[in-house]
Amino acid sequence: MPNATLFTPLHLGPYRLSHRVVMAPLTRMRAARPGNVPRLLNAEYYAQRASEGGLIIAEASQVTPSGQGVPASPGIHSSVQVAGWKKATDAVHAKGGVIYLQLWHVGRISHPSHQPDGALPVSASAVQPKGEATTASFTREPFETPRALRTDEIPLLVESYIQAARNAREAGFDGVEIHAANGYLLEQFLQSRTNLRQDAYGGSIENRARLLLEVAEAVSGVWGSERVGVRLLPFGVANDSGEEDPQPLYTYVIGALAQLGIGYLHVIEPRASGAGQAEVDHQGLPSASELFRPLWPKVLIAAGNYRGDTAEAAVAAGHADAVAFGRLFISNPDLPERLRVGAPLTPYNRRTFYGGEAEGYTDYPALSEQAAE
Ligand code: FNR
Repeated sequence: MPNATLFTPLHLGPYRLSHRVVMAPLTRMRAARPGNVPRLLNAEYYAQRASEGGLIIAEASQVTPSGQGVPASPGIHSSVQVAGWKKATDAVHAKGGVIYLQLWHVGRISHPSHQPDGALPVSASAVQPKGEATTASFTREPFETPRALRTDEIPLLVESYIQAARNAREAGFDGVEIHAANGYLLEQFLQSRTNLRQDAYGGSIENRARLLLEVAEAVSGVWGSERVGVRLLPFGVANDSGEEDPQPLYTYVIGALAQLGIGYLHVIEPRASGAGQAEVDHQGLPSASELFRPLWPKVLIAAGNYRGDTAEAAVAAGHADAVAFGRLFISNPDLPERLRVGAPLTPYNRRTFYGGEAEGYTDYPALSEQAAE
């Protein structure tokens, strides 16, 4: 077998995965509007990518309306969204798969057109991101300067993660992943470029990490920490993020998450930051999975520009326990099977990543369908 180590079992909290090829969380902007509700097309897409004992991390979903940053991204804050997600989790479970939901708040990477009452997006501090937002009508507009959250609003924000975590459980997910990467709200608090606060949530590393750790603890209160994962991008740059000295910050954060008993750590290699926007390759930066592996006692998932052979090598060397694939899972619904047998992979079409219907979403063939053509 070409990728033998990837096809050995792995215990993830209470689950026994039968292989280590994980589907990375992927925003596809195809929820039903109004309401940003997952629909049957989305359930079909996840069912196509489910495999016996395989882990899917479903796309980033806003925990509260102000957490939305792009049009038609699904939410996990309303009862209709819960009912919509139930169709996807049922479909994945019917194929013997395990499915987690990624909990998302974009913070400043939003636009007033997504916000309740057209308000300004919120962030750690009033620091305007470079670049352009995708508005509710799919046009592009420069990001605005966000409003800094007041200290007394933070408990409400944590509460919205708790409610979203409960909703995810009601929707039939097997666990949740907290999105603390890629320039979104929790990372805006973590990193010094976007966090200029002078309260208990800004300044020192301990203070900047406080919000993430409060969220991780609160979500663990709902799920039990072993069913909670956290995604980080320690060295890359995405959505105009920035941290002058990532190593001490992430050493602290990862140590504290380990103490909380978080079930898995999901690190994105810097070479793939911004993969949703363009083909980028930040070479020469340290490998996050290699560097932080010794600090992490539980399951470590690595992501970012992996192919079958490099994923096999990373797991075989012990740098990661599993590897998450993003773009290749978009265009290869049966990616685990293809990697297992060493079959050729279908290339992805970037034009259909975001928004639209079945094209570039549910029409990529499985190997068995291709063979029949
Ligand atoms: C992404 N990525 C991403 N990451 C995340 O944490 N939550 C998300 O919802 C998304 N959405 C998303 C959409 C699209 C279309 C792409 C291409 C990427 C990043 C993704 O999970 C992964 O880390 C990168 O794509 C790098 O992995 P690959 O694609 O090189 O395997």
